[in-house]
Amino acid sequence: MFSKESNGNGYQHHHLPPPETAHRDRVRRGTRRSRASTSGDNLSITVRVPEQQHLQPPPCTDFDIAYFHSYSHLGIHHEMIKDRVRTETYREAIMRHQSFIAGKVVVDVGCGTGILSIFCAQAGAKRVYAVDASEIALQANEVVKENNLSDVVIVLHGRVEDVEIDEEVDVIISEWMGYMLLYESMLGSVITARDRWLKPGGLILPSNATLFMAPVTHTDRYSESIDFWRNVYGINMSALIPLAKQSSFEEPSVETITGENILTWPHEVKHIDSYSVSIDELKTVTSKFKFSSMMRAPLHGFAFWFDVEFNGPAIAPSNYHSTSIVDNHMANGSQRKRRTNPNEALVLSTAPEDPPTHWQQTLIYLYDPLALEQDQLIEGSVTLSQSKENARFMNIHLEYSVGGRNYVKESVMK
Ligand SMILES: C[S@@+](CC[C@H](N)C(=O)[O-])C[C@H]1O[C@@H](n2cnc3c(N)ncnc32)[C@H](O)[C@@H]1O
Repeated sequence: MFSKESNGNGYQHHHLPPPETAHRDRVRRGTRRSRASTSGDNLSITVRVPEQQHLQPPPCTDFDIAYFHSYSHLGIHHEMIKDRVRTETYREAIMRHQSFIAGKVVVDVGCGTGILSIFCAQAGAKRVYAVDASEIALQANEVVKENNLSDVVIVLHGRVEDVEIDEEVDVIISEWMGYMLLYESMLGSVITARDRWLKPGGLILPSNATLFMAPVTHTDRYSESIDFWRNVYGINMSALIPLAKQSSFEEPSVETITGENILTWPHEVKHIDSYSVSIDELKTVTSKFKFSSMMRAPLHGFAFWFDVEFNGPAIAPSNYHSTSIVDNHMANGSQRKRRTNPNEALVLSTAPEDPPTHWQQTLIYLYDPLALEQDQLIEGSVTLSQSKENARFMNIHLEYSVGGRNYVKESVMK
């Protein structure tokens, strides 16, 4: 399983660690795949030729090529698919919306092995466009053929930004979430698919996503990484502690913590509505926080996690029945339906108190713990921004003040 600890420089995939130095090697070796060449029976490959300059898709960079290459390895897909919390929640979401999906046209943005496309076909979709820019699309096509679904599931090997689909679609499904929700920046491709093909009133799964953060205490983890050097087989190696702090805590760490590590109620960093979010608003996200510690404990850092929900479309057609509760009666008397009982929502959560997923939680550790009293305030802000070098990397800028002192922590998730 991926661990930020063991991957200093490699391209960090949200599902599996790349091999050491994989990123640089892949970029060096990466050759641009000819999108015009076919490489599988029944595999549809088309290139979008934009009519106007301003509609041109963004360029496919060497970083993108490396990114898609990282998804060509089956091990990554194995890790994702065997995450039952993830995969079964998606399957349940599809089945809950079966009355919307049956007989309809679906796009699976980033189909990987094709599993979500096949779930949609099983739910009765008329046609599913399964799009993936990675070579894994070739395998997806084989899976589709072997399951006798070639007349329903059309695998398109190419970027969502480039492939051509000659009809509007009713449903977009995608598993786009990266570590800390936004790492990997795949949501932009879902937005592109939405803006290119989704019919008004169409369904997007997941419908919304929320990123949370909270201060954490984690003495065991700090001791293992730092205090370890104080006495190594009887030898004082404290001289290595500054280096240990840097190597352990410079970058975000993806690991599993529990609710006991959390010191306060979580703060909502960003809420995303899949129907209205724009590509621009994801470039930089800033949120101010104010926490009050629920106990006296050392503050070791901040944890981030997310959840996504699978609600129906904002405007549901009259013959649509999902198991979530909808209400026809809005204050202004309009017929816009909306979910009224949030407890009915189907949620995929990666919170520390919920069953673990392959996303785990993302921790930003401080170089030195801060002693907190009960009810002590931790105030500040967090800014998450796409790296200028590679938009799939994420810069994390944390400013916080405790007990009248101000601190800044910068890290990059690569
Ligand atoms: C997290 S995986 C999900 C795979 C599959 N849907 C599943 O649930 O197992 C994301 C997939 O999206 C693909 N992908 C990401 N951005 C894409 C884009 N812009 N166009 C096409 N495929 C993309 C990746 O190659 C990868 O296979």
